[in-house]
Amino acid sequence: MPSPRLLVLFGSQTGTAQDVSERLGREARRRRLGCRVQALDSYPVVNLINEPLVIFVCATTGQGDPPDNMKNFWRFIFRKNLPSTSLCQMDFAVLGLGDSSYAKFNFVAKKLYRRLLQLGGTALLPVCLGDDQHELGPDAAIDPWLHTLWEKVLGLYPMPIGLGVIPPGVPLPSKFALQFFQEAPEMCSGEQRGARTEPQSPPSELQPFLARMVTNRRVTGPSHFQDVRLIEFDITGSGINQPSPRVPPKPSMAFPHSFAAGDVVLILPQNAASHVQQFCQALGLDPDQCFMLQPREPDVSCPERLPQPCSVRHLVSQYLDIASVPRRSFFELLACLSPHELERDKLLELSSPAGQEELSQYCSRPRRTALEVLCDFPHTAAAIPPDYLLDLIPPIRPRAFSIASSLLARPSRLQILMAVVQYQTRLKEPRRGLCSSWLASLDPEQGPVQVPLWVRPGGLTFPQAPDTPVIMVGPGTGVAPFRAAVQERVAQGRTENFLFFGCRQRDQDFYWEAEWKELEERGCLSLVTAFSRDQERKVYVQHRLRELGPLVWELLDHRGAYFYLAGNAKYMPADVSEALTSIFREEGGLSGPEAAAYLARLQRTLRFQTETWA
Ligand code: 2AM
Repeated sequence: MPSPRLLVLFGSQTGTAQDVSERLGREARRRRLGCRVQALDSYPVVNLINEPLVIFVCATTGQGDPPDNMKNFWRFIFRKNLPSTSLCQMDFAVLGLGDSSYAKFNFVAKKLYRRLLQLGGTALLPVCLGDDQHELGPDAAIDPWLHTLWEKVLGLYPMPIGLGVIPPGVPLPSKFALQFFQEAPEMCSGEQRGARTEPQSPPSELQPFLARMVTNRRVTGPSHFQDVRLIEFDITGSGINQPSPRVPPKPSMAFPHSFAAGDVVLILPQNAASHVQQFCQALGLDPDQCFMLQPREPDVSCPERLPQPCSVRHLVSQYLDIASVPRRSFFELLACLSPHELERDKLLELSSPAGQEELSQYCSRPRRTALEVLCDFPHTAAAIPPDYLLDLIPPIRPRAFSIASSLLARPSRLQILMAVVQYQTRLKEPRRGLCSSWLASLDPEQGPVQVPLWVRPGGLTFPQAPDTPVIMVGPGTGVAPFRAAVQERVAQGRTENFLFFGCRQRDQDFYWEAEWKELEERGCLSLVTAFSRDQERKVYVQHRLRELGPLVWELLDHRGAYFYLAGNAKYMPADVSEALTSIFREEGGLSGPEAAAYLARLQRTLRFQTETWA
């Protein structure tokens, strides 16, 4: 039997599932199998009925939800009217990526696996449960699972006689060829051609809006440990600057034309100029050279975000994520490309199954970046053929921020509240978040600054009924979406807004203090604060909630209030949920299980909503 075209479909939020899928693609090509790798939502799902062999790679996000780029697929595959024989021609496997510290560990992968069986598919092997919490990361589960997967696949579709597996030391052909121009063509510049300042359709990842930054101000006091910025963009002319009802007028409209409280803005960051320079130097690239990108295989297409022709500077500063922490596949490919014996041996060791602990010590634990690794392997870096750049280094991902302003209060403006990410590992240089450091470095007072962005619906939605009270709990930068909600609701004449805000010190990180005060005086807001470090004993938002237990119960049980929680995912969400259930027990007289069921019901009916981040 001729070997089929293996299809790998992924649902990825942070890029890990995509990375694993691409690894699957490479391993398939080493086994002489044709292979396509695609995001679930960019695959025409009705074609699944013709696919003989599909591997699904799916992450599970926060509350057991599917990643954004598989949400349409998810809705489709759970349609009630799909016949139970729909996929009876299909052999499949499901690889899940999750985090066992969350209650719904790998929920998406498990649910998908059961659904594919229901639709008549044949599972080649049980679902793989990759776990971020494992000290070796998800590879601990993935490696043995892949071993079995390839045994099964090759059992069904053996390699052509006389041909074996292409060994790991031999590089596969690159996905693209870079054809350099001798002289820079006229069209080739560093400018962002994909982006635009005049809208035809709503801005999106493929066509972000170049928004003018108008404010970038530190809002934490000088002695506060964290640099938190209030950043404001002018979005005039973006097409997303008109206040619109939250529910689109036509259900077929996939993109929002505007944003409402609870929505998020996506920002596409760039590498620092000094990093771009270091990278080009290490690889011997001339940043001013221009090239055309040509796919080597028929079903590979060029990344739509890259202009053609493109300069090396544009590619490195705006596309290649050289500040990301490289994964094992990076070391595998580097080992194949290395002309230097010592460096190659080390790279082979780091990419071997036995070298995973060392790789984790060297790279993932201290958060060493791709650029730093390349500087550690200078002979290898200098020999990397440019054709392999896009195989080696993943694209820069957009970052999501809760929108902190409402168009009803600030027309044609969009604000975010952003903590500048910086931390120390055992490496000398502090680690810095790519997007927050880039944004923080931009100074609109020194000249015009443009930032590529677009918006999408977020996880929080606010009640439409005019007299429904809302309780919002947002310590730290968790208050951002509630700033938008309060602005929006006050502008709509909704005054029953209860906000629980927590921070370290009243005079260091109390965001929007004056604004809240003014709204309180106008009778539009009830603010409850918890300053954790202004006294000996720590006081947190959940302590305040408990103190006000009778009011919280009254609002929730008698007044049909909605409850919201946003902020750091570590302990706060569990602690606040715990405070709530204790209020249900004490004020509502519920038993433990009844209180848990009450909270679950609120969650199901969207009267308890959370937006948390790591
Ligand atoms: P801390 O840093 O003094 O411990 C915003 O970060 C606020 O949230 C700070 O006052 C912080 O207090 C507080 N915080 C830390 N852990 C928390 C938790 N588990 N629940 C609620 N608030 C918490």
